[in-house]
Amino acid sequence: MNDDDGSLEGVVAARTVLSEVDGEAGRLVIRGHELDEIAQRWRYEDVVALLFEGFFDTLPPQDGLRAAIGRARREAFERLQPNDDAVLRRMPPIEAVRALMARLPDGDDLPTALRLLAAPAVYTAAVMRWRLGVQALPPDESLPHAADMLRMLHGRAPTPVQAAALDTYLVTVCDHGLNASTFAARVVASTGAGLASAVLAGISALKGPLHGGAPGPVLDALDAIGTAANARAWLEEAVAGGQRLMGFGHRIYRVRDPRADALKGALRKLGAEGSVNAARFELAEAAEQAALAILREKKPGRALETNVEFYTALLLEALGFGRESFTCVFAAGRVGGWLAHAREQVKKGRLIRPQSVYVGPAPRKTEGEAALAH
Ligand code: CMC
Repeated sequence: MNDDDGSLEGVVAARTVLSEVDGEAGRLVIRGHELDEIAQRWRYEDVVALLFEGFFDTLPPQDGLRAAIGRARREAFERLQPNDDAVLRRMPPIEAVRALMARLPDGDDLPTALRLLAAPAVYTAAVMRWRLGVQALPPDESLPHAADMLRMLHGRAPTPVQAAALDTYLVTVCDHGLNASTFAARVVASTGAGLASAVLAGISALKGPLHGGAPGPVLDALDAIGTAANARAWLEEAVAGGQRLMGFGHRIYRVRDPRADALKGALRKLGAEGSVNAARFELAEAAEQAALAILREKKPGRALETNVEFYTALLLEALGFGRESFTCVFAAGRVGGWLAHAREQVKKGRLIRPQSVYVGPAPRKTEGEAALAH
Protein backbone atom coordinates (compact mmCIF):
# COMPACT_ATOMS: atom_id res chain seq x y z
CA MET A 1 0.00 0.00 0.00
CA ASN A 2 1.17 3.49 -0.84
CA ASP A 3 -0.65 6.06 1.29
CA ASP A 4 1.50 9.03 0.30
CA ASP A 5 1.04 9.35 -3.42
CA GLY A 6 -2.76 9.44 -3.62
CA SER A 7 -2.91 6.29 -5.76
CA LEU A 8 -4.62 4.00 -3.19
CA GLU A 9 -2.35 1.27 -4.60
CA GLY A 10 -2.96 -1.95 -2.68
CA VAL A 11 -5.99 -0.62 -0.79
CA VAL A 12 -8.95 -3.02 -0.84
CA ALA A 13 -12.05 -0.87 -1.38
CA ALA A 14 -14.74 -3.39 -2.39
CA ARG A 15 -15.74 -7.03 -2.23
CA THR A 16 -17.17 -8.21 -5.53
CA VAL A 17 -18.46 -11.38 -7.13
CA LEU A 18 -17.87 -9.94 -10.60
CA SER A 19 -14.20 -10.34 -11.51
CA GLU A 20 -10.82 -11.23 -10.09
CA VAL A 21 -7.59 -9.79 -11.42
CA ASP A 22 -4.54 -11.81 -10.35
CA GLY A 23 -1.65 -9.55 -11.19
CA GLU A 24 1.10 -11.99 -10.19
CA ALA A 25 -0.22 -14.93 -12.23
CA GLY A 26 -1.56 -12.82 -15.13
CA ARG A 27 -5.04 -14.28 -14.74
CA LEU A 28 -8.49 -12.73 -15.15
CA VAL A 29 -11.63 -14.48 -13.91
CA ILE A 30 -15.05 -13.11 -14.87
CA ARG A 31 -17.63 -14.39 -12.37
CA GLY A 32 -16.23 -17.91 -12.20
CA HIS A 33 -15.02 -18.14 -15.81
CA GLU A 34 -11.40 -17.86 -16.95
CA LEU A 35 -11.04 -15.16 -19.61
CA ASP A 36 -9.41 -17.69 -22.00
CA GLU A 37 -12.50 -19.87 -21.75
CA ILE A 38 -14.98 -17.18 -22.76
CA ALA A 39 -13.05 -14.63 -24.86
CA GLN A 40 -13.03 -16.55 -28.15
CA ARG A 41 -16.45 -18.20 -27.82
CA TRP A 42 -18.99 -15.99 -26.06
CA ARG A 43 -21.05 -13.19 -27.46
CA TYR A 44 -21.18 -9.93 -25.53
CA GLU A 45 -24.81 -10.56 -24.60
CA ASP A 46 -23.77 -13.82 -22.90
CA VAL A 47 -21.25 -12.11 -20.65
CA VAL A 48 -23.81 -9.40 -19.83
CA ALA A 49 -26.24 -12.13 -18.71
CA LEU A 50 -23.47 -13.52 -16.49
CA LEU A 51 -22.62 -10.10 -14.99
CA PHE A 52 -26.24 -9.04 -14.44
CA GLU A 53 -27.40 -12.32 -12.85
CA GLY A 54 -28.95 -11.65 -9.44
CA PHE A 55 -28.64 -7.87 -9.69
CA PHE A 56 -32.08 -7.21 -11.20
CA ASP A 57 -35.44 -8.55 -10.09
CA THR A 58 -36.29 -10.10 -13.45
CA LEU A 59 -33.63 -10.96 -15.98
CA PRO A 60 -34.93 -12.55 -19.20
CA PRO A 61 -33.40 -15.85 -20.36
CA GLN A 62 -30.41 -15.47 -22.73
CA ASP A 63 -32.39 -15.28 -25.99
CA GLY A 64 -34.81 -12.82 -24.40
CA LEU A 65 -31.90 -10.71 -23.20
CA ARG A 66 -30.41 -10.56 -26.72
CA ALA A 67 -33.77 -9.34 -28.05
CA ALA A 68 -34.13 -6.81 -25.22
CA ILE A 69 -30.65 -5.40 -25.95
CA GLY A 70 -31.66 -5.10 -29.63
CA ARG A 71 -34.77 -3.14 -28.64
CA ALA A 72 -32.68 -0.97 -26.33
CA ARG A 73 -30.37 -0.10 -29.27
CA ARG A 74 -33.40 1.09 -31.21
CA GLU A 75 -34.62 3.14 -28.25
CA ALA A 76 -31.20 4.75 -27.85
CA PHE A 77 -31.13 5.60 -31.58
CA GLU A 78 -34.62 7.14 -31.43
CA ARG A 79 -33.36 9.64 -28.87
CA LEU A 80 -30.98 11.24 -31.39
CA GLN A 81 -32.12 14.73 -32.37
CA PRO A 82 -31.99 16.43 -35.78
CA ASN A 83 -29.17 18.84 -34.97
CA ASP A 84 -26.95 16.39 -33.11
CA ASP A 85 -24.63 15.70 -36.02
CA ALA A 86 -23.74 19.39 -36.54
CA VAL A 87 -22.85 19.94 -32.88
CA LEU A 88 -21.36 16.62 -31.87
CA ARG A 89 -19.18 15.85 -34.88
CA ARG A 90 -16.82 18.63 -33.77
CA MET A 91 -16.24 17.19 -30.32
CA PRO A 92 -13.77 14.42 -29.43
CA PRO A 93 -15.85 11.24 -29.98
CA ILE A 94 -15.74 10.13 -26.35
CA GLU A 95 -17.09 13.54 -25.28
CA ALA A 96 -19.80 13.39 -27.94
CA VAL A 97 -20.84 9.90 -26.79
CA ARG A 98 -20.81 11.09 -23.18
CA ALA A 99 -23.05 14.04 -24.11
CA LEU A 100 -25.56 11.70 -25.77
CA MET A 101 -25.44 9.27 -22.84
CA ALA A 102 -26.14 12.18 -20.46
CA ARG A 103 -29.60 12.53 -22.00
CA LEU A 104 -30.65 9.01 -21.03
CA PRO A 105 -32.99 8.85 -18.05
CA ASP A 106 -31.61 7.83 -14.69
CA GLY A 107 -32.97 4.96 -12.62
CA ASP A 108 -32.03 1.62 -11.15
CA ASP A 109 -34.24 -0.85 -13.05
CA LEU A 110 -33.46 -3.27 -15.87
CA PRO A 111 -34.90 -1.15 -18.75
CA THR A 112 -32.67 1.73 -17.63
CA ALA A 113 -29.66 -0.61 -17.47
CA LEU A 114 -30.31 -2.10 -20.91
CA ARG A 115 -30.65 1.33 -22.50
CA LEU A 116 -27.32 2.37 -20.98
CA LEU A 117 -25.73 -0.91 -22.03
CA ALA A 118 -26.89 -0.64 -25.64
CA ALA A 119 -26.35 3.09 -26.16
CA PRO A 120 -22.51 3.37 -26.41
CA ALA A 121 -22.49 1.00 -29.42
CA VAL A 122 -25.22 3.02 -31.17
CA TYR A 123 -23.75 6.43 -30.35
CA THR A 124 -20.17 5.48 -31.23
CA ALA A 125 -21.26 4.36 -34.70
CA ALA A 126 -23.42 7.49 -35.12
CA VAL A 127 -20.71 9.92 -34.02
CA MET A 128 -18.06 8.30 -36.22
CA ARG A 129 -20.35 8.48 -39.25
CA TRP A 130 -21.18 12.15 -38.56
CA ARG A 131 -17.48 12.91 -38.50
CA LEU A 132 -17.32 11.52 -42.06
CA GLY A 133 -20.27 13.69 -43.05
CA VAL A 134 -22.70 10.77 -43.49
CA GLN A 135 -25.95 9.95 -41.71
CA ALA A 136 -26.19 7.70 -38.68
CA LEU A 137 -27.74 4.32 -39.41
CA PRO A 138 -30.53 2.85 -37.29
CA PRO A 139 -29.86 -0.45 -35.56
CA ASP A 140 -31.02 -3.82 -36.85
CA GLU A 141 -32.56 -5.31 -33.72
CA SER A 142 -32.39 -8.83 -35.08
CA LEU A 143 -28.58 -8.86 -35.18
CA PRO A 144 -26.27 -9.70 -32.27
CA HIS A 145 -24.91 -6.59 -30.55
CA ALA A 146 -21.33 -6.70 -31.88
CA ALA A 147 -22.37 -7.50 -35.45
CA ASP A 148 -24.88 -4.64 -35.38
CA MET A 149 -22.31 -2.20 -34.01
CA LEU A 150 -20.05 -2.94 -37.02
CA ARG A 151 -23.01 -2.74 -39.42
CA MET A 152 -24.12 0.63 -37.98
CA LEU A 153 -20.54 1.91 -38.39
CA HIS A 154 -19.79 0.66 -41.91
CA GLY A 155 -23.23 0.35 -43.47
CA ARG A 156 -22.71 -3.30 -44.38
CA ALA A 157 -22.86 -6.58 -42.51
CA PRO A 158 -19.50 -7.73 -41.09
CA THR A 159 -18.06 -11.15 -41.88
CA PRO A 160 -18.65 -13.71 -39.09
CA VAL A 161 -14.94 -13.51 -38.21
CA GLN A 162 -15.12 -9.71 -37.88
CA ALA A 163 -18.24 -9.91 -35.69
CA ALA A 164 -16.58 -12.61 -33.56
CA ALA A 165 -13.44 -10.43 -33.21
CA LEU A 166 -15.50 -7.53 -31.87
CA ASP A 167 -17.30 -9.92 -29.50
CA THR A 168 -13.88 -11.10 -28.27
CA TYR A 169 -12.91 -7.50 -27.63
CA LEU A 170 -16.14 -6.54 -25.84
CA VAL A 171 -16.05 -9.69 -23.70
CA THR A 172 -12.35 -9.22 -22.91
CA VAL A 173 -12.82 -5.69 -21.58
CA CYS A 174 -16.26 -6.16 -19.96
CA ASP A 175 -14.95 -6.09 -16.41
CA HIS A 176 -11.64 -5.83 -14.62
CA GLY A 177 -11.80 -5.57 -10.86
CA LEU A 178 -11.77 -2.16 -9.25
CA ASN A 179 -10.20 -0.21 -12.12
CA ALA A 180 -10.49 3.59 -11.99
CA SER A 181 -13.72 3.88 -14.02
CA THR A 182 -15.45 1.06 -12.16
CA PHE A 183 -14.47 2.59 -8.83
CA ALA A 184 -15.85 5.94 -10.00
CA ALA A 185 -19.10 4.24 -11.08
CA ARG A 186 -19.43 2.47 -7.72
CA VAL A 187 -18.86 5.68 -5.75
CA VAL A 188 -21.60 7.46 -7.69
CA ALA A 189 -23.97 4.48 -7.47
CA SER A 190 -23.48 4.36 -3.69
CA THR A 191 -25.02 7.83 -3.38
CA GLY A 192 -28.27 6.57 -4.92
CA ALA A 193 -27.83 8.82 -7.96
CA GLY A 194 -28.87 6.10 -10.44
CA LEU A 195 -27.28 3.97 -13.13
CA ALA A 196 -27.02 6.70 -15.78
CA SER A 197 -25.03 8.87 -13.36
CA ALA A 198 -22.79 5.93 -12.48
CA VAL A 199 -22.13 5.16 -16.16
CA LEU A 200 -21.32 8.83 -16.88
CA ALA A 201 -18.78 8.76 -14.06
CA GLY A 202 -17.30 5.62 -15.61
CA ILE A 203 -17.02 7.20 -19.05
CA SER A 204 -15.39 10.30 -17.61
CA ALA A 205 -12.72 8.24 -15.82
CA LEU A 206 -12.16 5.97 -18.81
CA LYS A 207 -11.41 8.93 -21.06
CA GLY A 208 -7.99 9.59 -19.52
CA PRO A 209 -4.88 8.36 -21.36
CA LEU A 210 -3.67 6.40 -18.35
CA HIS A 211 -6.83 4.28 -18.42
CA GLY A 212 -8.92 3.93 -21.60
CA GLY A 213 -7.30 6.55 -23.79
CA ALA A 214 -4.08 4.65 -24.56
CA PRO A 215 -4.81 2.64 -27.73
CA GLY A 216 -5.12 5.65 -30.07
CA PRO A 217 -1.61 6.80 -29.07
CA VAL A 218 -0.34 3.22 -29.62
CA LEU A 219 -1.13 3.65 -33.31
CA ASP A 220 0.35 7.15 -33.33
CA ALA A 221 3.58 5.59 -32.00
CA LEU A 222 3.55 2.83 -34.63
CA ASP A 223 3.04 5.42 -37.37
CA ALA A 224 5.95 7.47 -36.03
CA ILE A 225 8.20 4.39 -35.76
CA GLY A 226 7.41 3.52 -39.39
CA THR A 227 9.68 0.47 -39.85
CA ALA A 228 10.76 -2.42 -37.64
CA ALA A 229 14.38 -1.32 -38.04
CA ASN A 230 13.54 2.05 -36.49
CA ALA A 231 11.63 0.63 -33.50
CA ARG A 232 14.43 0.41 -30.97
CA ALA A 233 15.88 3.85 -31.64
CA TRP A 234 12.46 5.57 -31.59
CA LEU A 235 11.29 3.87 -28.41
CA GLU A 236 14.61 4.41 -26.63
CA GLU A 237 14.44 8.10 -27.38
CA ALA A 238 10.84 8.26 -26.13
CA VAL A 239 11.72 6.62 -22.80
CA ALA A 240 14.87 8.77 -22.45
CA GLY A 241 12.64 11.83 -22.98
CA GLY A 242 10.45 10.72 -20.04
CA GLN A 243 7.53 9.48 -22.15
CA ARG A 244 5.45 6.48 -21.15
CA LEU A 245 5.13 3.85 -23.84
CA MET A 246 1.43 3.45 -24.45
CA GLY A 247 0.22 -0.14 -24.26
CA PHE A 248 2.80 -1.16 -21.64
CA GLY A 249 2.72 -1.32 -17.86
CA HIS A 250 -0.17 -1.88 -15.50
CA ARG A 251 -1.03 -1.06 -11.92
CA ILE A 252 -1.95 -4.66 -11.11
CA TYR A 253 -0.28 -6.98 -13.62
CA ARG A 254 3.36 -7.76 -12.99
CA VAL A 255 3.35 -10.23 -15.89
CA ARG A 256 1.79 -10.03 -19.33
CA ASP A 257 -1.83 -8.83 -19.28
CA PRO A 258 -3.89 -11.94 -20.21
CA ARG A 259 -6.24 -9.73 -22.22
CA ALA A 260 -3.39 -8.95 -24.64
CA ASP A 261 -3.21 -12.62 -25.66
CA ALA A 262 -7.00 -12.94 -26.03
CA LEU A 263 -6.96 -10.00 -28.43
CA LYS A 264 -3.89 -11.21 -30.29
CA GLY A 265 -5.74 -14.51 -30.87
CA ALA A 266 -8.71 -12.66 -32.42
CA LEU A 267 -6.30 -10.62 -34.52
CA ARG A 268 -4.68 -13.77 -35.90
CA LYS A 269 -8.12 -15.09 -36.98
CA LEU A 270 -8.82 -11.79 -38.72
CA GLY A 271 -5.39 -12.07 -40.36
CA ALA A 272 -6.23 -15.54 -41.67
CA GLU A 273 -9.20 -14.13 -43.60
CA GLY A 274 -7.13 -11.22 -44.88
CA SER A 275 -8.67 -8.49 -42.69
CA VAL A 276 -5.34 -7.45 -41.15
CA ASN A 277 -2.52 -5.63 -42.89
CA ALA A 278 0.35 -8.14 -42.49
CA ALA A 279 3.06 -5.46 -42.59
CA ARG A 280 1.29 -3.54 -39.81
CA PHE A 281 1.14 -6.68 -37.66
CA GLU A 282 4.84 -7.40 -38.19
CA LEU A 283 5.75 -3.82 -37.31
CA ALA A 284 3.64 -4.08 -34.14
CA GLU A 285 5.31 -7.30 -33.07
CA ALA A 286 8.76 -5.82 -33.66
CA ALA A 287 7.83 -2.67 -31.72
CA GLU A 288 6.42 -4.76 -28.86
CA GLN A 289 9.63 -6.79 -28.54
CA ALA A 290 11.79 -3.65 -28.69
CA ALA A 291 9.61 -1.87 -26.11
CA LEU A 292 9.75 -4.80 -23.67
CA ALA A 293 13.54 -5.02 -23.98
CA ILE A 294 13.95 -1.28 -23.40
CA LEU A 295 11.58 -1.23 -20.42
CA ARG A 296 13.51 -4.14 -18.84
CA GLU A 297 16.78 -2.25 -19.26
CA LYS A 298 15.61 1.24 -18.30
CA LYS A 299 13.04 0.44 -15.59
CA PRO A 300 14.51 -2.63 -13.91
CA GLY A 301 12.66 -1.97 -10.65
CA ARG A 302 9.20 -2.33 -12.19
CA ALA A 303 7.93 -5.30 -14.23
CA LEU A 304 6.45 -3.53 -17.25
CA GLU A 305 4.77 -5.84 -19.75
CA THR A 306 2.34 -5.53 -22.66
CA ASN A 307 -1.13 -4.46 -21.52
CA VAL A 308 -4.57 -4.83 -23.11
CA GLU A 309 -4.32 -1.57 -25.04
CA PHE A 310 -1.49 -2.61 -27.37
CA TYR A 311 -3.43 -5.29 -29.27
CA THR A 312 -6.70 -3.41 -28.78
CA ALA A 313 -5.27 -0.74 -31.05
CA LEU A 314 -4.45 -3.23 -33.81
CA LEU A 315 -7.71 -5.14 -33.48
CA LEU A 316 -9.95 -2.08 -33.59
CA GLU A 317 -7.95 -0.63 -36.46
CA ALA A 318 -8.41 -3.89 -38.40
CA LEU A 319 -12.16 -3.70 -37.74
CA GLY A 320 -12.26 -0.23 -39.29
CA PHE A 321 -12.74 1.88 -36.15
CA GLY A 322 -10.96 5.22 -36.40
CA ARG A 323 -8.37 5.65 -33.64
CA GLU A 324 -10.25 8.62 -32.16
CA SER A 325 -13.12 6.21 -31.40
CA PHE A 326 -11.15 3.55 -29.50
CA THR A 327 -12.10 4.83 -26.05
CA CYS A 328 -15.77 4.81 -27.09
CA VAL A 329 -15.51 1.15 -28.12
CA PHE A 330 -13.85 0.39 -24.78
CA ALA A 331 -16.84 2.07 -23.09
CA ALA A 332 -19.21 -0.08 -25.18
CA GLY A 333 -17.63 -3.14 -23.57
CA ARG A 334 -16.87 -1.89 -20.04
CA VAL A 335 -20.40 -0.49 -19.61
CA GLY A 336 -21.58 -4.03 -18.75
CA GLY A 337 -19.13 -4.14 -15.85
CA TRP A 338 -19.99 -0.61 -14.67
CA LEU A 339 -23.69 -1.45 -14.55
CA ALA A 340 -23.18 -4.72 -12.67
CA HIS A 341 -20.80 -3.08 -10.18
CA ALA A 342 -23.21 -0.18 -9.70
CA ARG A 343 -26.03 -2.61 -8.88
CA GLU A 344 -23.76 -4.65 -6.61
CA GLN A 345 -22.88 -1.47 -4.74
CA VAL A 346 -26.53 -0.34 -4.52
CA LYS A 347 -27.46 -3.74 -3.11
CA LYS A 348 -24.89 -3.28 -0.35
CA GLY A 349 -26.91 -0.21 0.61
CA ARG A 350 -24.05 1.82 2.07
CA LEU A 351 -22.62 5.14 0.94
CA ILE A 352 -18.91 5.04 -0.02
CA ARG A 353 -17.33 7.69 2.13
CA PRO A 354 -13.69 7.13 3.08
CA GLN A 355 -11.65 9.48 5.23
CA SER A 356 -8.73 11.72 4.50
CA VAL A 357 -5.87 12.72 6.77
CA TYR A 358 -5.46 16.47 7.06
CA VAL A 359 -1.85 17.53 6.44
CA GLY A 360 -2.47 21.26 5.85
CA PRO A 361 -1.55 24.17 8.13
CA ALA A 362 -3.08 24.49 11.61
CA PRO A 363 -5.78 27.19 11.86
CA ARG A 364 -4.26 30.64 12.32
CA LYS A 365 -5.05 32.50 15.53
CA THR A 366 -7.00 35.74 15.11
CA GLU A 367 -5.21 38.95 16.22
CA GLY A 368 -7.35 39.06 19.37
CA GLU A 369 -6.49 35.49 20.31
CA ALA A 370 -2.80 36.11 19.61
CA ALA A 371 -2.85 39.20 21.90
CA LEU A 372 -4.58 37.23 24.68
CA ALA A 373 -1.94 34.48 24.40
CA HIS A 374 0.83 37.01 25.28
N1 CMC B 1 6.41 3.39 -20.29
C1 CMC B 1 7.51 3.83 -19.68
N2 CMC B 1 7.67 3.85 -18.35
C2 CMC B 1 6.65 3.41 -17.61
C3 CMC B 1 5.46 2.93 -18.18
C4 CMC B 1 5.38 2.92 -19.57
N3 CMC B 1 4.28 2.49 -20.19
N4 CMC B 1 4.61 2.55 -17.19
C5 CMC B 1 5.24 2.81 -16.04
N5 CMC B 1 6.46 3.32 -16.30
C6 CMC B 1 7.47 3.71 -15.33
C7 CMC B 1 7.10 5.00 -14.62
O1 CMC B 1 7.52 6.12 -15.35
C8 CMC B 1 7.83 4.83 -13.34
O2 CMC B 1 9.20 5.07 -13.56
P1 CMC B 1 10.07 5.87 -12.47
O3 CMC B 1 9.97 5.03 -11.23
O4 CMC B 1 11.42 5.90 -13.09
O5 CMC B 1 9.40 7.18 -12.32
C9 CMC B 1 7.71 3.32 -13.06
O6 CMC B 1 7.54 2.71 -14.34
C10 CMC B 1 6.54 2.95 -12.20
O7 CMC B 1 5.40 3.53 -12.71
P2 CMC B 1 4.10 3.77 -11.87
O8 CMC B 1 3.68 5.17 -12.12
O9 CMC B 1 4.23 3.32 -10.46
O10 CMC B 1 3.09 2.80 -12.54
P3 CMC B 1 1.54 2.86 -12.30
O11 CMC B 1 1.16 1.60 -11.66
O12 CMC B 1 1.08 4.11 -11.67
O13 CMC B 1 1.08 2.98 -13.82
C11 CMC B 1 0.01 2.80 -15.81
C12 CMC B 1 0.25 2.13 -14.47
C13 CMC B 1 -0.90 1.90 -16.65
C14 CMC B 1 -0.71 4.15 -15.59
C15 CMC B 1 1.35 3.04 -16.51
O14 CMC B 1 2.02 1.80 -16.69
C16 CMC B 1 1.22 3.77 -17.84
O15 CMC B 1 1.18 5.00 -17.85
N6 CMC B 1 1.19 3.03 -19.00
C17 CMC B 1 0.98 3.65 -20.27
C18 CMC B 1 -0.50 3.98 -20.49
C19 CMC B 1 -1.30 2.73 -20.77
O16 CMC B 1 -0.90 1.86 -21.53
N7 CMC B 1 -2.48 2.69 -20.14
C20 CMC B 1 -3.41 1.58 -20.30
C21 CMC B 1 -3.48 0.75 -19.05
S1 CMC B 1 -4.30 -0.82 -19.31
C22 CMC B 1 -5.98 -0.35 -19.36
C23 CMC B 1 -6.60 -0.44 -18.06
O17 CMC B 1 -6.73 -1.56 -17.51
O18 CMC B 1 -6.98 0.63 -17.56
